[in-house]
Amino acid sequence: PRVLLLNGPNLNLLGSRDPHQYGSVTLAEVERRVQALGAELGAGVECAQSNHEGELVEHVHRARHLDGVVFNPGAFAHYSIALRDAIDAVEVPCVEVHISNVYAREEFRHTSVTAPVSEGYIAGCGPAGYELGLRAVLTRIGQRRP
Ligand code: DQA
Repeated sequence: PRVLLLNGPNLNLLGSRDPHQYGSVTLAEVERRVQALGAELGAGVECAQSNHEGELVEHVHRARHLDGVVFNPGAFAHYSIALRDAIDAVEVPCVEVHISNVYAREEFRHTSVTAPVSEGYIAGCGPAGYELGLRAVLTRIGQRRP
């Protein structure tokens, strides 16, 4: 299987941005770890990050040729109907990941408009959440009929 690891706005700053909330590993390191786990589990992992909503929509569209998506939409999770519709449209299993425990933070982070169209949701597990997300999406893919 081929999986897209997709990160939204400000996640390019991982490592330096609020390490208390998001840890000190960089996005490059997260991507390396998820790709290494993919290699171990027999999955190819493609990585992309964008700070732009429309670009993220297009990444999700391109993922319809793949088998799954592990997606941290960043703040867009809280209000981007366009991203929600894109995930809904492509019918590829998507697992949403948030590094921080959004429920322990400001109220505006408690809503996700993308989670209801995602297969699974992981929050508050730190950067390891991405590896959990890969395992989860691969399990979903394995459960699908050919
Ligand atoms: C985040 C949580 C969001 O609320 C925030 O806007 C982010 C990062 C997380 O990974 O914990 O950019 O998605």
